[in-house]
Amino acid sequence: MKGRRMCGTVTAGDEGQRLTVAGWVNHRRDHGGLTFIDLRDHTGVVQLVFNPATSPAAHEIAERCRLEWVLKVDGLVGRRPPGSENPNLPTGEVELTVEGCEVLGQAEAMPMGVSDELAADERVRLQYRYLDLRRPRMQRNLRARHRFIKSLRDVADELGFIEIETPTMIPSTPEGARDFIVPSRMWPGHVWALPQSPQIYKQLCMVGGLDRYFQIARCWRDEDLRADRQFEFTQLDLEMSFVEEDEVFLVLEEMISRAFATAFDIPVSTPWPRLPFSEAMRRFGSDKPDTRFGHELEDVSDIFRASSFRVFRGALDQGGSVQALRVQAGAELTRGELEGEWLQVARTYGAVGLAYMWRRSGVYEGAIAKFLSEEEQEALTARLGLQDGDCVCFTAGRTQVAQTSLGAVRLHAARRFGWIPPKRFDFLWVTEFPLFEADPATGRIGSVHHPFTQPHPDDWDLVRTEPTAVRSRSYDIVCNGVELGSGSLRITNPAQQALIFEALGLSAEEAQRKFGFLMSAFRYGPPPHGGFAAGVDRMVMLGVGESTIREVIAFPKTQSGADPMTGSPTPVAPEQLAEVGLRLAKVLERGGTDHDGREG
Ligand code: AMO
Repeated sequence: MKGRRMCGTVTAGDEGQRLTVAGWVNHRRDHGGLTFIDLRDHTGVVQLVFNPATSPAAHEIAERCRLEWVLKVDGLVGRRPPGSENPNLPTGEVELTVEGCEVLGQAEAMPMGVSDELAADERVRLQYRYLDLRRPRMQRNLRARHRFIKSLRDVADELGFIEIETPTMIPSTPEGARDFIVPSRMWPGHVWALPQSPQIYKQLCMVGGLDRYFQIARCWRDEDLRADRQFEFTQLDLEMSFVEEDEVFLVLEEMISRAFATAFDIPVSTPWPRLPFSEAMRRFGSDKPDTRFGHELEDVSDIFRASSFRVFRGALDQGGSVQALRVQAGAELTRGELEGEWLQVARTYGAVGLAYMWRRSGVYEGAIAKFLSEEEQEALTARLGLQDGDCVCFTAGRTQVAQTSLGAVRLHAARRFGWIPPKRFDFLWVTEFPLFEADPATGRIGSVHHPFTQPHPDDWDLVRTEPTAVRSRSYDIVCNGVELGSGSLRITNPAQQALIFEALGLSAEEAQRKFGFLMSAFRYGPPPHGGFAAGVDRMVMLGVGESTIREVIAFPKTQSGADPMTGSPTPVAPEQLAEVGLRLAKVLERGGTDHDGREG
C-alpha cells in the first residue's frame, strides 16, 4: 500500500502530519460522542478518533465494525488531550483523527482472542493458527527466528561456507528414528524416504570438493512428539573438509554466539567448556547436563562396599554403584512427596527405588537411617557436606541407570527449590560419547550417533572385542540441559567403515545395499571431514524463552501428531493408492467433529 505508515511507529514527532495506516481493529470504545479504535499491525497499536460531526462516513464504519476487521485509515496526527496519554505505549502520546476510512476485510465473531493475555487452549490455537499468529508473542517469536536464521547464514557465508540444497526424496538415512516414506508411482513397490538429516549427501559434498557446506535443512523423523520434538524440524547442518574437532568447535561457537547476540540480544561468551561424556554422566547424571547450577551427584559406592544395608550392598555386589544427591534445605520434603512425585521421576529412568534420609538436629531420620552404620553416616556427612535441614537421596543399581535416575531427580529438585538462576545460558560441548550402545532388551549393538562416526584413535582395537567401551570422536552442544546439536569426525577409509558395519551386525551385502554409493565414493579420494547439525527450533526456543518448539514453528503438529487446522493427516482415496500400487491393511477411525480426530 503506497505511503502506508506502520501503526506502532506513530509518535509525537509526527504531530500535524497526515498519515495512512492499515491494520486490524484491536479494541473499540465510545466516549463523549466520539468512537475510539486501537488499530493494530505487527509493530503495535495506534489510537484512532472518529468524529461523527467532521467525518460521518468514517464514523459510520467505526460504529459498524467489529474486532479484527481490517481497515485502511487516513488521518491527522495530534496530541492526546492532557490526562489521556498512555505512557506504556510508544504511540501513547498521540492519536490519529480520522478523515477517511475504508474496510479492507471483515471478520465474524472470533473463535479465539488474539491478545497474549487471553491465550486460548493450545488445541484451539493450533486449529486457528492463522489467528494465533496475530498475537504479539507469536509475531515476536517468528521474527526472532527469521533474524536468527539470517544471522546464521550471514556468518556461515563470512566463514567461507556455501549453502547447498540436498534432495528431500532419498534412500533411508541411518539417524536412528523411523523414516517417513513416499511411495513411488513409477517404480511400484519401491519407496523414497524423507531425509532424517542430509548426512550422507553432505559427506558426498565433501568428496565433491565443496570444502565447506551448510544448509538450513528441513528434516523429517517419525518419532513420538515432545516439547522439543516435531516430525519435521529444521537443522543448521554443516560439514567441513580437512578439519579436526577444534576447527569445528570454533566455527560453531562463532556462528551460534553471534546469531544469539544479533537475534535475541543474548551475549554468549566463548570458548565453551568441554566435558567428556563419562564426566557429564558422573557429575550430572546426564549426557545433556544443566550446568547453570551445581548440586552435583556423588558416587558413594566406596562408603558402602561392606554395608549391611542390603539394597546398596546388593547393587555393589552386582557391579553397580550407589549415587547420592544432597538436597540442601530438603528436610522440608515430606515422605509423601519423596515417595510419590520424586520416586516417580527416578522410576522414569529405570530406577527401582529412591532411598532418602533427612538430617535433623545432628541425626539422620527416615526409613533407611537405621540400616546405615555410624561410620557410614559420618563418611556421608563429610563427603556430601550434609548439614541439619538437608535431605539426601540415593539411587543404587546399574551405574548408568543409577546416574540418569538421580540426574533426573537433581533437575526435579532444582525446580522445586529454585536452584536455577534466571537469564543464564550455559553452553558447553559434551565430547567422547560412546560409539556403540547395546539394546538392554536384545543386546544388539547400535550406533549412538550414526555409523559414519570415527572411533577414538586409541580405541580401534576394542571395536571387535568390547564395542560398548569404544569412545567416539563425536560431540554435542548442550545449553541449559537441552541438546542443541550433534556432530562428529567421519570415517573415510572403506576398510574401517566396513569394520564398523560388521560390529553393527550388518552383513557385507546389507551394508553394500544401504550405503554402497557412499562406500564407492570413498574409493575415489575422500578428503578427511567432519561436521555438525544444530536444531534451529530448539535454539530459537531457548533464545526467546519458550518451553516448547511449537511456539517457534509457524505451523507445528499437536503432541498427538496431527494438524487440527487442516484436518490432516487425511484418509487416502483408493484411486490415489492404486496409482502407487498400495493397498491398506488398517484404517484408524478418527472420532470427534473437530479436526484433531485422535483426541476428539
Ligand atoms: P542428530 O540426530 O543429533 O544429528 O540431530 C541434530 C539436532 O537436530 C535436532 N533434532 C530435532 N529437533 C526437533 N525435532 C526432532 N524430532 C529432532 N531430532 C533432532 C536436535 C539435534 O541435536 N546428521 C547428524 C549430525 C551430524 O553428524 O553432522 C544429526 O542429524 O537439536
